[in-house]
Amino acid sequence: MKKIIFGSLIVATSLFAQVKGDIEVPYIPYEIKMGKGFDTVQANCLMCHSFGYIINQGPQSREFWREKVEKMIKAFGAPITQKDAKIIEDYLFKHYGNGKEK
Ligand code: HEC
Repeated sequence: MKKIIFGSLIVATSLFAQVKGDIEVPYIPYEIKMGKGFDTVQANCLMCHSFGYIINQGPQSREFWREKVEKMIKAFGAPITQKDAKIIEDYLFKHYGNGKEK
C-alpha cells in the first residue's frame, strides 16, 4: 500500500513538472450511504483514512465488520468506545453487509 502511494506521488510530481496551466485532479466519488450510525462512523473512522478503505472491502459479514472495527482499536489504537463500535458494526453490516452473520 505504501509503495502504491509513493509510486503515484512520483508520477504526479513528474506530471506537474511538465504540464503548465490548470491541472485537474480527478474526482473519485465514493458511494457513501447515509443512515443511522453514519455520523458515528464519520466521527470514529474517517480521522485516519478515507471511506474508500471501508467500501473497497465489498459486501462482508457482520463478523468481518466486527473484527475490522476491533482491529482498528487493537492494532492501530483507534479511540472507539464499545458503544460506538456496536453502532458502527450495525451500520456497516446494514449498508455494506452480505446478509450473513458469519
Ligand atoms: C487510529 C487510526 C484509525 C482509525 C480511527 C480507523 N482506522 Fe481503519 N485503518 C487504519 C490503518 C493504519 C489501516 C491500514 C492501512 C494500510 O494498510 O495501508 C486501516 C485499514 C482499514 C481497512 C482496510 C482493511 C484492513 O484490514 O487493513 C478497513 C476496512 C478499515 N480500516 C476500517 C475502519 C473502520 C470501519 C473504522 C472505524 C470504526 C476505522 N477503520 C478507523 C487506521 C485507522
